[in-house]
Amino acid sequence: MRFDILTLFPAMFTGPFTESILKRAQQAGLLDIVLHDIRAYATDKHKSTDDYPFGGGAGMVMKPEVLYRALAEVLGMGAVVQAEAEVLVPLPAERPPVLLMSPAGEPFTQGMAEELAQAPRLVLICGHYEGIDERVRECCVDREISIGDYVLTGGELAAMVIVDAVARLQPGVLAAASTDEESHSDSLLEYPHYTRPAVWRGQPIPAVLTSGHHANVHRWRHEQRLLRTLQRRPDLLQRAVLSEQDREYLRRHGWGTSLLPDDPAAS
Ligand code: ADE
Repeated sequence: MRFDILTLFPAMFTGPFTESILKRAQQAGLLDIVLHDIRAYATDKHKSTDDYPFGGGAGMVMKPEVLYRALAEVLGMGAVVQAEAEVLVPLPAERPPVLLMSPAGEPFTQGMAEELAQAPRLVLICGHYEGIDERVRECCVDREISIGDYVLTGGELAAMVIVDAVARLQPGVLAAASTDEESHSDSLLEYPHYTRPAVWRGQPIPAVLTSGHHANVHRWRHEQRLLRTLQRRPDLLQRAVLSEQDREYLRRHGWGTSLLPDDPAAS
């Protein structure tokens, strides 16, 4: 799978993409991550990439032409766009999804990571300043994505999060079984893990794990997932696929008995 990342700060990606699993996946030819410096497409001698917002207000806005040229180059139409300085040449209809990192985007979820992982190529734009010129967003962005309800200084960290979450779903990037029962893959959190020694500083592991009874281990782990999700993220249970046995287990542990929070407007 290929990722093209458009950024003003390509050096920020050193580290996350040059270590560990993503490094190995690139060396193995499973991933191709290409960084594009937006500033290289600036058109004035100062190489400026932002300007004041029309109508006033705080902050700066990324200039449309710079970002448009960068995108056009990445999508193989750089020469056309340079030759046609006065018209907006539409991006090719057959293009990889163009994603804009933005706190105003759709919330990023494991489900979205799975969906994006189906594409052979993604283009990610890291916004900066107050945002990008709306006209480029309208012409050229397929999807805006937020990694959470907080504001970062730019889209780079968001792009790293998305590339990481999508890349690890590519066949061969991780050992096959490790994504099966992990947190969020089926809207349940992960069960607790233990390794040797079996008794550590007086703390034993749950006895079932050394019983050698695979069905019991499996059932215990599944119940731990249910319990943890109930205790930490009960909201996730709304979309989890639960058997009648799961529901029964959850009810025994208090599911459905807590009162909804009061409506503050009613008091
Ligand atoms: N850029 C700034 N904040 C962001 C967020 N929360 N998600 C994605 N991109 C962002």
